[in-house]
Amino acid sequence: MNALQNGYTDLPPGRLAAVVTYLEMREWDMLPGLSLPEARPSEFSLRRVENPELEWYRSLFRTVGENWLWSSRLRKDDEALLAIIQHPAVDVHALSHEGRDMGILELDRRQFPEIELAFFGVAPELIGRGAGKFMMRRAIEIARSWKPARFWLHTCTLDHPKAIGFYRKAGFTPYRRAVEILDDPRVAGFLPRTAASQVPII
Ligand SMILES: CC(C)(COP(=O)(O)OP(=O)(O)OC[C@H]1O[C@@H](n2cnc3c(N)ncnc32)[C@H](O)[C@@H]1OP(=O)(O)O)[C@@H](O)C(=O)NCCC(=O)NCCS
Repeated sequence: MNALQNGYTDLPPGRLAAVVTYLEMREWDMLPGLSLPEARPSEFSLRRVENPELEWYRSLFRTVGENWLWSSRLRKDDEALLAIIQHPAVDVHALSHEGRDMGILELDRRQFPEIELAFFGVAPELIGRGAGKFMMRRAIEIARSWKPARFWLHTCTLDHPKAIGFYRKAGFTPYRRAVEILDDPRVAGFLPRTAASQVPII
């Protein structure tokens, strides 16, 4: 185990730190009754995208994740990324709004009977308009249909500040915390330097 110390740890320039929270939903939590009234279903639709293409996937990933410095998938070369997103146990779904793809829901069944909610988010202009709730209902329905032992995800302090509250309302329980240290994806050239101005570049 790493020697973890209380107090402050300096980071070199160009690096970021985030606190990661893991949340899970066990079999018995995945009740069909997470039944808030449907959030204006006609506004949004969700479709499974079979064998997603690289350009489409990277563009949607940036649309949703740029503000939150999502970069793990942008760091992968074509071959490595295709091996994940076209894997038969990885299900990529797109949320559409007014004919545009503006949200991503990615479920990873590679470690079944566990299912990971690997990516979940909507474009900045849709935040707070019920799209997340719409997509979460679908996520739980789809995950439940596979009868997993556990449905889990992680989120970090670079994500939207309401993300943890959102997941808890959806029925997930926090169970583990970690610190993630990473190269700032703007400094490393994976995202524009103007992305996520709430996190200054140092
Ligand atoms: C986190 C995020 C997905 C939330 O989506 P959203 O569209 O902004 O949220 P909504 O408008 O649908 O939320 C509506 C409400 O339903 C709640 N809710 C969502 N799903 C629910 C469910 N299944 N059961 C009960 N309540 C639910 C939400 O907590 C929220 O409650 P509030 O109205 O009291 O605030 C969105 O902010 C986002 O995409 N952020 C950027 C990317 C990100 O940070 N992703 C998460 C980290 S991986």
